[in-house]
Amino acid sequence: MAASLRSAVSAVTSRGTSRFSTVVVRASAGQINPSIRKNEEKVADFVKVENLPTPKAVYCRCWRSGKFPMCDGAHVKHNKETGDNVGPLVIESPAAK
Ligand code: FES
Repeated sequence: MAASLRSAVSAVTSRGTSRFSTVVVRASAGQINPSIRKNEEKVADFVKVENLPTPKAVYCRCWRSGKFPMCDGAHVKHNKETGDNVGPLVIESPAAK
């Protein structure tokens, strides 16, 4: 258990007035990608699928899109703010080329 979570749990349990408590755990600000292909400027994958409903489907992997699970470009702002290198999963139909 991380130190900050341990502190939060300790703070909640030390109040001791209720048998049930809520512990809120938030991700810290910073890079979302801790270790995958960090030598690349942006991690983006392209997968060709024969029968996509649209010629190109772009899926979010940064967890910040307002249209999740689809990418809306929010990863650009995240990358600039944090120095991270996340990018979408782009699936293309062979007919899109
Ligand atoms: S908005 Fe999340 S990868 Fe583009």
